[in-house]
Amino acid sequence: MRIVVIGATSGIAEQCCRLWVQREACDLLLVARDGAKAGRIAEDLRVRSPASTVEVVTLDFLDAAAIGRLAAEAALKPIDIVLIAHGMLPEQTRVQADLGLCRDTIEINAVSPALFAEAFAHHLAQAGRGTLALIGSVAGDRGRKANYSYGACKGFVERYAEGLEHRLASSGVRVVLIKPGPTDTPMAASYKARGVKLASVEEVARISVRGIDAGRPMFYAPPRWALIMLIVRNLPRFVFNRLNI
Ligand SMILES: NC(=O)c1ccc[n+]([C@@H]2O[C@H](COP(=O)([O-])OP(=O)(O)OC[C@H]3O[C@@H](n4cnc5c(N)ncnc54)[C@H](OP(=O)(O)O)[C@@H]3O)[C@@H](O)[C@H]2O)c1
Repeated sequence: MRIVVIGATSGIAEQCCRLWVQREACDLLLVARDGAKAGRIAEDLRVRSPASTVEVVTLDFLDAAAIGRLAAEAALKPIDIVLIAHGMLPEQTRVQADLGLCRDTIEINAVSPALFAEAFAHHLAQAGRGTLALIGSVAGDRGRKANYSYGACKGFVERYAEGLEHRLASSGVRVVLIKPGPTDTPMAASYKARGVKLASVEEVARISVRGIDAGRPMFYAPPRWALIMLIVRNLPRFVFNRLNI
């Protein structure tokens, strides 16, 4: 199984990698901005699975030309799975007060995943096989004052995945969108500090790997978020706008 992981230092992505190497020897390409951190994860995965090969590549996640080159080089060998996992979640009040941070948030959560998805979709389509998985969020389902800059990007990622799925429907390539709820990783540290109940990263990764195996076009992790977000999406404005969420 050959797997390319974009944003490989993400807590969710790292757990997915552990599950993948636990069940069989894999050929993993870990793509990250921080080579030292990704190197430590690669070393851990090699210890867990000596038969696996784990390579680390670093690049600027907004450099379209570098992303294009990375995808072309990675696709020289057949790819089974591409997981696009990176993201950032700054406090919404900071984003509102700082247009530079607003731009960075949109670039890393929306522009960058689209560039990686587009670059790899091209090569998977040519090969006529493989699964392109992206991590969205429940936050993309409805704009809320607590995180709408990040949430809007996740909504964008969902529409992008949907369009790619439509484009690639008869190509043999599957497109998968994972929508986690709040999960216990560094990204949700401030939620944890406020006492918000978080799903374990192990549970979210298990559901993600299963959904990728099945090629499910979209699913929530954990699944209870499907019902919660159905309700949130359908609340009338006069109720929704009074909620402090
Ligand atoms: N945790 C949650 O509650 C939650 C809920 C819903 C969706 N998600 C989504 O799940 C995905 C994985 O997040 P996680 O929970 O695993 O969080 P995480 O452990 O904090 O990982 C975030 C990842 O994004 C990378 N990243 C951040 N800014 C970057 C930049 N400017 N350039 C390149 N990489 C950058 C980080 O790299 P460094 O290691 O170098 O910082 C890290 O690999 C994200 O798409 C996130 O939006 C998370």
